[in-house]
Amino acid sequence: MRIALGSDHAAYEAKAHIKQYLESSGNEVIDVGTHSIESCDYPDYAEKVSLAVQSGTVNRGVLICGTGLGMSMAANRYTGIRAALCHTEELASLSRLHNDSNILCLGARTQSLAMMEKILMIWLDTVWEGDRHARRVQKIDSNPRGQHAE
Ligand code: RB5
Repeated sequence: MRIALGSDHAAYEAKAHIKQYLESSGNEVIDVGTHSIESCDYPDYAEKVSLAVQSGTVNRGVLICGTGLGMSMAANRYTGIRAALCHTEELASLSRLHNDSNILCLGARTQSLAMMEKILMIWLDTVWEGDRHARRVQKIDSNPRGQHAE
């Protein structure tokens, strides 16, 4: 798979580890930064990864910050992005099976590297079930401004 990977300073070291892990598992990684531990703003990297996923230049995206919270909030503002903050393997699996999540968010200060690897592999390997979930995902994607039909 071709995967866009981004982090802020809080997850710079975790990103380096995950990049190596993804590449050694046969994936192509587009590392959008950050490229140092200098303080930066996570929405800037959420934007780069979200736009790469949105445009189809990558298959999926991975975003890591201190908690994964800011990254998921920022990424989910982009149309067509379904970013899932997953802290368990079950959540990683369900976010794919039911929600067709296209960006995985992780927290470098709240999860171990070993748990991140497990979550990542399940998330990459799990195929969306479609069927009844297709209607629900379509409703998310067709309602980007939160305006509900009468
Ligand atoms: C940075 O200190 C921290 O706020 C950020 O990495 C992230 O956890 C935000 O949600």
